[in-house]
Amino acid sequence: MQIGMACDHGGFELKEELKAYLRSIGHEPIDMGTFNEDSVDYPDYGVLVAEKISRGDMGRGILICGTGIGMSIVANKFRGVRAALANDLFSARFCREHTDANILVIGGRIVGRELAKEIVRVWVETPFVGGRHQRRLEKIETIEKKNFKS
Ligand code: RB5
Repeated sequence: MQIGMACDHGGFELKEELKAYLRSIGHEPIDMGTFNEDSVDYPDYGVLVAEKISRGDMGRGILICGTGIGMSIVANKFRGVRAALANDLFSARFCREHTDANILVIGGRIVGRELAKEIVRVWVETPFVGGRHQRRLEKIETIEKKNFKS
């Protein structure tokens, strides 16, 4: 599948690792930067992926900053985006099964590369289970509609 990717300087090294990993397991990462370790502002890169997901131009995305917190806050400003900060395997599994997370966020300064690859694999492969969880996502949509104009 096509997966948009972006990071700041705190996530650059891990983005490069994960990009290669995604290709090795048959996916198509779309790299939207940043492209080196020069200091940048994570909102400028988080929006690039979140906008595409929100508009429906792309189904899934991965964002990486130092902690994953800044990128999560940015991405979840966008309607239709369900960005999950998953720095462990349990979160990676359940953010798909229960919350249908369309953006995975990882802290590049927290998670080692091998664990990060496993987190990505689990997040890519785990389906949303629906059922009662669908009702909860619909409630999130209702909240979005009430609180955002666009
Ligand atoms: C950048 O130094 C750092 O603040 C950023 O990568 C991220 O951790 C923010 O949440």
